[in-house]
Amino acid sequence: HPMVFPSSRVHFPKTSRRLPQALIIGVRKCGTRALLEMLYLHPRIQKAGGEVHFFDRDENYLKGLEWYRKKMPHSFRGQITIEKSPSYFVSPEVPERVRAMNASIKLLLIVREPVTRAISDYTQLRSHAATAILPLAEQSASAGAGSGYGARMSSTPSTLYAKLQAAHSYDNALGSGAGAKETAMAGMGARRAAATTTTTPTPSAAQLAAKSFEELAIFPNGTVNEAYRPLSISMYHVHLHRWLEVFPREQLLVVNGDRLIEDPVSQLKRIEAFLGIEHRVRSEHFYFNETKGFYCLRYDNGDRCLRETKGRKHPHVDPVVVSRLRKFFAEYNQRFYELVGEDLGWPE
Ligand code: A3P
Repeated sequence: HPMVFPSSRVHFPKTSRRLPQALIIGVRKCGTRALLEMLYLHPRIQKAGGEVHFFDRDENYLKGLEWYRKKMPHSFRGQITIEKSPSYFVSPEVPERVRAMNASIKLLLIVREPVTRAISDYTQLRSHAATAILPLAEQSASAGAGSGYGARMSSTPSTLYAKLQAAHSYDNALGSGAGAKETAMAGMGARRAAATTTTTPTPSAAQLAAKSFEELAIFPNGTVNEAYRPLSISMYHVHLHRWLEVFPREQLLVVNGDRLIEDPVSQLKRIEAFLGIEHRVRSEHFYFNETKGFYCLRYDNGDRCLRETKGRKHPHVDPVVVSRLRKFFAEYNQRFYELVGEDLGWPE
């Protein structure tokens, strides 16, 4: 009799799904995916497939720890399971919830120079907004089409407006200064309104999607729009403060995301030591891909680069705005250095 197992049930004996012993808590756009994939080169590391969003989304958290555990991969005893959901870092309720699960969990925080991170965030939000305002059938064609948003907008404005609103609220809005939850609710309201009334104004959709980083980050009077999400997420000390009220400093490792791009092995060495696993990820695991402009990874079963949404080309940003923002962040960066006890040397 041939033994037949349903394929989803096949796994090595002596493995089980375990709650994570380490978390990558953020920061969004700082290389969280790269970090997880690089750590996965290590035989002692197992990773959760997607972003689980257990601690930051009430609908998931209410399902309980067993639900969370079942989202984890099978692992051998002695392996470390890691999950990454970058929004953990900025969600106020998360540190306490993590502590309630495991007070000795290890936390990895990857950061980049804050203005670079903000521009990367803007680039991602803009690409989502651009996708959201195109009907699905047109999305693939649009890549080479090069036409403005306006022309497509005019066809079915209220649907497009609703989609754009949804995309904006999902990603915390290109221009809004509201907090995550308010923005999401405003988005839902707009969607409902767009669905039920034909008189929904469709004004700013095209302008919103087309707004430059400069316009969104700096008010016409020259002051910085501190409430703009890509900027407020880069105020690392504000968010980290909450974590350090709950966890001792030794339980958190700050990974330099700009260095991870240039020289992954040196950062990984620190992480291996922090996680208490032997040094196994080495330069043979990486090769620099000239076309991509980033390091790609060498696994036993083949080479792999991160997908094209990782390592995007950023739009040109007026250098005057960049240096204005760097000055603006100087004070915040100092506070972050003090919190972590390390100077990351970001330019002012
Ligand atoms: P950009 O696309 O703006 O360059 P996250 O996974 O947290 O969203 O972070 C995405 C960022 O990871 C990318 O931002 C990129 O700079 C960075 N990154 C670091 N190492 C990378 C690698 N080897 N390949 C691609 N992107 C990498």
